[in-house]
Amino acid sequence: MLFKTYTPKDLRAFDGTSDNGRILMAVNGSVYDVTRGRNFYGPGGPYGNFAGRDASRGLAKNSFDLDMLTEEDKPIDKLEDLNKDEWDSLREWEQHFANKYLLVGTLVENQ
Ligand code: HEM
Repeated sequence: MLFKTYTPKDLRAFDGTSDNGRILMAVNGSVYDVTRGRNFYGPGGPYGNFAGRDASRGLAKNSFDLDMLTEEDKPIDKLEDLNKDEWDSLREWEQHFANKYLLVGTLVENQ
């Protein structure tokens, strides 16, 4: 599997609705292939709003509210306002994803 860079716009193509059904998700700058977690992230799944998106803020704040997501044409969320507990939460989730899913790339700004 190729390790590459993805922009927020690139990621949107991998929300599980395309022919190949592939699902990618960014967590604190890393991009994971979460396709095998399709029951969570696939269309209609409980965490489907994270599919094809940078999920960092939602994971930090344990919320899947839509306002946790940054529009794909906006700069990457710098997460500068997170408090210590929120950073701890995000890092714990990061471990969860690193242990369970394939790391396929890094998130970079739109060109
Ligand atoms: C009503 C509250 C919630 C319930 C009952 C619930 C339930 C669950 C369950 C049963 C799992 C599967 C655990 C496993 O099999 O390892 C899970 C995983 C997960 N939950 Fe929740 N959850 C809730 C709220 C949330 C919220 C608010 C978030 C927002 C960040 C969230 C994000 C996740 C994520 C990211 C996973 C991991 C999925 C994976 O391994 O790919 N959950 N949840």
